[in-house]
Parts: sequence; C-alpha cells; structure tokens
Amino acid sequence: MSKSTEQLWWQKGVIYQIYPRSFQDSNGDGIGDLPGIIQRLDYLSETLGVDAIWLSPFYPSPMADFGYDISNYTDVHPDFGALADFDRLISEAHARNLKVIVDFVPNHTSDQHPWFLESRSSRDNPRRDWYVWADPKPDGSPPNNWLSVFGGSAWEWDEQTRQFYLHSFLKEQPDLNWRNPEVKEAMFDVVRFWLDRGVDGFRIDVAHYIMKDPDLRDNPPNPEPPDPQRFKLLGDYDSQLHLYDKGHPDVHEVFREFRAILDEYSQTSPRYSVGEIHIFDWQEWAKYYGEHLDELHMPFNFALVGIAWRPELVRQVIESVEKAAPPGGWPNYVLGNHDEPRVASRYGREAARVAGMLLLTLRGTPTLYYGDEIGMVDVNIPPEKQQDPWGLRVPGLGRDPQRTPMQWSAAPNAGFCPPGVIPWLPIADDYADWNVETELAQPASFLNFYRSLLAYRKASRALQRGAYRTVSGAPETCLTYLREDGEQRLLIALNFGDKAEIVRTPLAGVGRVAVSTHMDRAGDTIDLAQFELRGNEGLLVELTPTEQ
Ligand code: GLC
Repeated sequence: MSKSTEQLWWQKGVIYQIYPRSFQDSNGDGIGDLPGIIQRLDYLSETLGVDAIWLSPFYPSPMADFGYDISNYTDVHPDFGALADFDRLISEAHARNLKVIVDFVPNHTSDQHPWFLESRSSRDNPRRDWYVWADPKPDGSPPNNWLSVFGGSAWEWDEQTRQFYLHSFLKEQPDLNWRNPEVKEAMFDVVRFWLDRGVDGFRIDVAHYIMKDPDLRDNPPNPEPPDPQRFKLLGDYDSQLHLYDKGHPDVHEVFREFRAILDEYSQTSPRYSVGEIHIFDWQEWAKYYGEHLDELHMPFNFALVGIAWRPELVRQVIESVEKAAPPGGWPNYVLGNHDEPRVASRYGREAARVAGMLLLTLRGTPTLYYGDEIGMVDVNIPPEKQQDPWGLRVPGLGRDPQRTPMQWSAAPNAGFCPPGVIPWLPIADDYADWNVETELAQPASFLNFYRSLLAYRKASRALQRGAYRTVSGAPETCLTYLREDGEQRLLIALNFGDKAEIVRTPLAGVGRVAVSTHMDRAGDTIDLAQFELRGNEGLLVELTPTEQ
C-alpha cells in the first residue's frame, strides 16, 4: 500500500466509549474512576480487541450534568482520581497499543468555573464578554425565544447585573462566547494541554453549538413535528427550527483553526477529532469535514440511533452517508452512547446482534458504547434514584437507564464495585446472566459474537477499507451488501425480522460463512443465489475470487 493510501488508526480501528462513572470503581465509593479503567485495559485491548477508548468527561465539575459542566478544564475530578492517574492511563493504554480520546466541551462551562464567576461579577469585568449576556426585552422577558435542550428558556436572569445569560443546556452550563478571541485562545490552550499529555484525539461535545447568530434572532416555529421513525423526539425543543441558536457558518473557521493545532501535533503521531453534531441534513453535516478536509476528521453520524429498525431506513442512511461524505472524508457509525437508549432495548437483544454486525461491517469507523458488547439493556431507575437532570426536568428523557454500571461478573455489584457498596446507579437485575465473565465461558454468547466479529474485522482489509455496495433482491425484512477490497469480497446479509426468510441475490456461486450472529454457522458453505436466514440472523460471508 502506498503511503498516501495507508489508513490511519482512527480509520481502520474500532473506538470504544467509556462513561468513567460507570466502568470500574477501584476505591469503593460506588463511582467508577481512572484507576478502575486502567485495571480493565487488558479486557479492552486483548479480550475484546478494540483500538481506541473515548472517555466521557472526568474533569472537576459540580456534576450538575455529570461532568459536562466543567469547572476546571485541565485537571481530574477527585471522584475519578488525579492527573497522575490520567498520565498512567495514557502510558498503560499506549503500551497496549490503545489510543486515548478525551471529551472536549467547548460550548459551555460550569457556572462555577472561575471564568463565569468573574463574568457574572459585574458588567465591566474583563471576562464579562467571555459568555453571552443580553438585555431583556422592554417588557422584561428574555432577549429572544431560544430554548434550552433540557427544557424551558435558554436564558437565565442575573439579578445582580440585570442581564440574561445564555445556556443552551442547564442554567448551570452557561454558553461561552466563541466570538471573543480570548475565549478561543483559552480553549485552544486546553486542547494543547491534553495533547501535550499524550491524548490521541478529542470528541467534541455539541460541536455545532459554539457559534450562534450574532444578532440573536428568534428561531422560527417548526412547521411540522419530526417523524418519530427517523428522529429521537426532544419535546418542546422540537417546536422550533433551530436556525439561529446553533450551527452559524462561522463555526467552520473555528474548526479550521482547531484542526491546524491537531495537524501540528500529528507530526509526531496522528491525532483525531470527532464532533458531536446532531445534523441530519447530510449536506450540512458533511460541511464539518471542511471544504478541504481541514476541519474535523469526522462529524459523528447519529442517523442509526434515532431510526426505527427497518432495513429500508437503514439502507437509506448508509447510501446517504456514502454519498454525502466528501472524497477522502471518512464515514462513521454509532448505535448508542450515554445520551441514547441502549440498542438492545431499542430493538431487543436478538436484533441487537444483527445491529452489531451492521455496525462492524459498514464502511467507516464504528464507535461502540460500553456494555453494548455484552448485550446490556436500559435499567429501569426508580424515581428516588434518578440522577440525570434532563430526566428530572422532562420526564421520559432521562439518560440514567443507559448509564448504569458495567457488568463484569456474577459477583455482588457485578464486579463494578465491592460488595456492600451502593453503586451510584442501580445495576441491571439480570446482570448474573449478562456479564463479561459469564459470557466469556459461553461459546455462543453475545460477547463472544462481538469478539469474533471484532477479530475478523481486525484482519480484514475489505471491512477496514473496502468499498460498500448494496445488493438488490433481498426480502423486505432483510438487508444485503458487499464490502470489497481487491481480492477480498464479503457479503453481509442481515435479517431484521424475527421470521426465517429466503434471500435471493444476483450473485452466483458459493460463499463461506465467516461469522454468524447465532455463532453456529461459521465454515458453512452457502449458495449465494439463494440461501436462508433465520429470524434475527446475520451472516458475514466470504466470496471466493472467481464469483461475481
Ligand atoms: C452532549 C453530551 C450530553 C450533555 C450535553 C451538554 O450532548 O453528550 O451528555 O448533557 O452535551 O453538555
């Protein structure tokens, strides 16, 4: 392979998201921590076989939004350990060839961040303009109609200085003013701080929110409610078209500058950035790669998270992404994260294996959410144990169910924290059957299915870099596609339904099953023109070079 077509780690690897509070508690306080993650690195690199970890925030924070409200960008919250633990995590991960991606939260700080304390102290404080302050309307109401994602107005009145400040999320998360060059420089220093400590990349929280309409114009009403088959519904927030409160075109210049910093550091080892960008207009979405591929390495593609589990919707997503990603722009897919109901709860555990096969066989970087590889489901949290501020404000939108502790074993507290300790969120009732240790001992388990697929992917050029092609002729409940790279050609056939189906394809000859969701057909030969898929079955089939 020539140098120019050589793939970088973030293109060919698989990324695994860790929610640090819930991964492994090492000190018995019921909260996961960085030393706990270090203890589990062998699981990630050896047992599971992923290539990079992304850590949700572990920085000092009052925890109004569980770490997405940061009061110091360049330290570690004592619940999670100390900077020395982070340094050890980096070196232990790198020693295992695992890359480390950290969360960068540029849109807002905590209201306890010293910058905001200064900003709100008086109108002439030098940091006043580091946040978005505005006068009330003549009748005393907020400056415009913008809404907080978490419910209610996006403006909070400050009695002392008699202005409103903007918060796109909680009032404890005031939005920074990225139009102020000092803010930009201070935040770029944060980026350099973590790059200097050896991080391999950033996941950028609500990346498209950082630039808003400078004139603070009202958002227009949304003429039609979103289609629940295609989008996750957000309550009142959906009543507007969010034209002015995020995604202003000036955002692209910021990401060009951000990318230049990453590129500088990439001279020693390639760095990576992925933006959390909930944009479903593909053209608009693709702009975040940059006109000259000079912005983010990729905008997260969340399209598979919100849609109903139907082959034609999935196919449309894949084909749209394939079309929208600019030449040289690398696609990516996710099935879940700390903000979304788990895939095994959305579609059921049987279908979740098929979804896993989809995720790991599409063209582009897959990002896995911790616990999805063992079939973890959302845990029903009794009202008195609810923690997530979103759920407390807007019933039904709480994210605690998908943030429960990782299930390591059948031991008390699932091996997440010592027996007798109360974990910060309850552990799933069925953890004794659904955990790493138990599943490792069962050859056909969910985890072993994921392991075999990950191992196959690691050795397969067609999966890592091959072209994607939809194969026609599949029954309505099935999706079939090819991944091809030179000599290696793979057919992936997925049955989304729970009934057996006969799949007919225009392909001739026979293929050999390499991985099956049910873990019982590897090595079988199938007739490519016509074969059977059982309910919720997925097959990864190798085609021999002579077949069409
Ligand atoms: C992102 C995070 C989410 C957080 C929000 C505000 O969407 O993923 O967890 O609540 O930003 O920071």
